[in-house]
Amino acid sequence: MSNQISIPEFYSGKNIFITGGTGFLGKAIVEKLLRSCPEIDRIYLLARAKKNKTASERIQEITDAPLFDVIRAKNPEIFKKISLLEGDIIKENLGLSDNDLKIFYEKVNVIIHSAATISFNEPLKIAVNTNLQPIKELIKLARKTKRLDCLIHISTIYTNWFERDIREKIYKPKYDPNEIIEMSKTLTDEELNKISLMGHANTYTFTKSLAEYLLSQEGHDLPAVIFRPSVVTTTLKEPFPGWIDNWGGTAPTLFMTSIGIFKHPRMEKDYIIDLIPCDTTVNMILAVGWKVGTEQNAKNLPVEAYNCSSSSLNPISYKELYSGFVEMGRKYPYNFTLKLKEKKPKLIKMIDTTYDNYHKVKFATTTRTTFHSENPIKLMKLMSQKDLQEFDFDVRKVNWKSFIETYYLGMRQYLGKENPIIFQFYERKFKDSSLKII
Ligand SMILES: NC(=O)c1ccc[n+]([C@@H]2O[C@H](COP(=O)([O-])OP(=O)(O)OC[C@H]3O[C@@H](n4cnc5c(N)ncnc54)[C@H](OP(=O)(O)O)[C@@H]3O)[C@@H](O)[C@H]2O)c1
Repeated sequence: MSNQISIPEFYSGKNIFITGGTGFLGKAIVEKLLRSCPEIDRIYLLARAKKNKTASERIQEITDAPLFDVIRAKNPEIFKKISLLEGDIIKENLGLSDNDLKIFYEKVNVIIHSAATISFNEPLKIAVNTNLQPIKELIKLARKTKRLDCLIHISTIYTNWFERDIREKIYKPKYDPNEIIEMSKTLTDEELNKISLMGHANTYTFTKSLAEYLLSQEGHDLPAVIFRPSVVTTTLKEPFPGWIDNWGGTAPTLFMTSIGIFKHPRMEKDYIIDLIPCDTTVNMILAVGWKVGTEQNAKNLPVEAYNCSSSSLNPISYKELYSGFVEMGRKYPYNFTLKLKEKKPKLIKMIDTTYDNYHKVKFATTTRTTFHSENPIKLMKLMSQKDLQEFDFDVRKVNWKSFIETYYLGMRQYLGKENPIIFQFYERKFKDSSLKII
């Protein structure tokens, strides 16, 4: 074991700078840091300015979310360790003020870059400005920091989805990322949108793959690492099962399938889908930070990639997943009448979004890809038993059948805002009806 100190010991006294801390994954990272590494010095969240909201109101907005219930009940004082730095990653110096840059250079030990546009079909200019150019700024700023232990760049497993075997290496793209950045500055939107995405299904994976390569080439003198989650779902167990606050990824199609609106999703049913619970992802991110941050000579090592995925370690097929959701829809029926009576029925809008979303992800659902995740297994071997428990990311232990129930109920409670009491009622009813059949 090379990394002698524990994960909480590593983060103790550290200042963590997070972009995208107001997003789905970013919030979960903040929550876990505060809960499991309470000795951190401070978390700096880079966030865009919002009209009529002060920094402390914005922090409160984040920490008021149900995700923070456990901490709020046990240790609400710890929220004082969050500071908000106003910025915008598309701007020079990430839009940070001179004073905040000073804090950044003097104090920051760990950078977690999670901000991105996750919309698949943004015009190329927006995708380049948000998902690629900021990496260049971040490398420039990170080089000026005095005590940087680690820079974690959150990417996606789909950066090279057209390869059938996705390894934990950085793939060389067909374009030079710097050329694309230059073109995005000089060409009009129309001209830029004519650029071939070179096999990429959308501007999201295109720009994310260029960003990975840029970091590996220009940030090789930094303790940098690339982290690639697959499709992030609800939490599995931490801080409680089922939390989610984002209708991205597979959530809309799964939900619509469960309530019988979406009947025959076009996908190769025996193909493997790659899902990864939110807390598994967060635990792995923090463990990767610890590994790089405690590594001798991390600055001089090549930038590594971690595939945070389940398909090669604990596969689940589309068929298993979708039939599981259909079963959930029967066990916990959905009250359409009530939903359609709402003043502005969200359900109708969601049906539209689902079809749209479904077409956007077809590139992934209709191809057979293997995502290899060997680095997470190697990482586990470096961790103590205690850290393995507290920062559990062993996706091999996930029981998908029971997780489908967690995922489904989490979606209904946290996205659909339904009262969970109704689920207990249906569960009892379901049990009674099963008894009668026997
Ligand atoms: N969710 C998944 O299934 C998944 C899977 C694979 C990879 N990822 C990667 O994980 C990361 C986080 O994704 P997510 O699901 O948490 O997305 P999300 O919920 O959409 O959050 C995106 C975050 O980025 C911030 N952001 C966007 N543009 C910005 C700008 N110009 N300046 C400053 N902040 C900006 C947003 O801030 P505002 O609050 O101001 O909008 C928000 O905090 C992304 O890099 C994504 O590519 C996610």
